[in-house]
Amino acid sequence: MTTTDSLHIQIEKNTHPILNQVDFDQLPFGKYFSDHMFISLYKDEAWVNSRIVPFGPISMHPSMAAIHYGQSIFEGMKAYKAANGDILLFRPWENAKRLNRSADRMCMATLPEDYFLEALTTLIQIDRDWVSAKEGHSLYIRPFMFASEAILGVRPANEYTFMIISSPVGHYYNGPVKLMLETHYSRAAKGGTGTAKAAGNYAAALYPAKIGQQQGYNQQLWTDSSTHQYIEESGTMNIFFVINGTIVTPSLEGDTILPGITRDSIIRIAHHWGIPVEERPISIDELEDAIRSESLSEMFGAGTAATIAHVDSVNIRGVDRKLPDVAKRKFSNEVAQYLSDIRTGKADDIFEWTYRIPR
Ligand code: COI
Repeated sequence: MTTTDSLHIQIEKNTHPILNQVDFDQLPFGKYFSDHMFISLYKDEAWVNSRIVPFGPISMHPSMAAIHYGQSIFEGMKAYKAANGDILLFRPWENAKRLNRSADRMCMATLPEDYFLEALTTLIQIDRDWVSAKEGHSLYIRPFMFASEAILGVRPANEYTFMIISSPVGHYYNGPVKLMLETHYSRAAKGGTGTAKAAGNYAAALYPAKIGQQQGYNQQLWTDSSTHQYIEESGTMNIFFVINGTIVTPSLEGDTILPGITRDSIIRIAHHWGIPVEERPISIDELEDAIRSESLSEMFGAGTAATIAHVDSVNIRGVDRKLPDVAKRKFSNEVAQYLSDIRTGKADDIFEWTYRIPR
């Protein structure tokens, strides 16, 4: 791949901005989009034609490889407004690295991390007014890459498009979530693409999630595909338990679990606070016993979109098991507040996780 020190981004400003038309008190997740988007093409082994343009539809060839064979990956991240008006990103380097790990797994082009940061920074500088300072609000950023070569042959494409769009968002869930343990369908299998943030992983989860939602559950609690005895993730999030004061989360070994940046941050904060953390397999039987014996004090999902989603109840083998009162959950409430304080610049950035967008 040929690289230069910069993407040399061309900028075309939106002459019909819609910022003033958006009601920031009503923000369904991912419904409104900021006025600009970033786009770059990978061709002849180089990223070229990098532009920031008015947000809008893109054209594509009907034989574009991503549509047919699914070479499509994405990232999710959020920009926050600090009290002094600065715009802060949370660990964007990790998103850049994960995008490239996903790209490797899906046989796609990689993007130099500096390019990722440059594109992100330039776009957010232009759309900085879209970052709301309201409590619980942020600008959700969606970097994504797809195979844009027009080719029906089944092989890794030679051309890719990398884009960044963004969307102002509030809370992802209105309250604690109800989960249904999934022991038939699988989100990911050993040797599969579960560790990649590949679009197809989300498509495969829609059908089981729909069945769960028809029965009143927000998300599935995914189990391993070979035995359906061990818990892996929850919906689109990583999953955490507090059992006898220890934080337990499924380990990343086995290539079925997405290495969440929120997941990693929670583990590091717990270590810093001196709270024991175990990354290990956790079985359905262990979860059921821990709920019954009341040794489980907390259960929550963790992801960029929801940050921390408290679990209200989980349906295990047909029985809804109600979990402890959310107000009494110490660790998840404290870590949610601390993460929010770091992200908005209220807490000292002792982990060096914050990236301040230059003005
Ligand atoms: C996340 O929370 O990180 C996600 O990926 C959720 C997104 C698919 C809406």
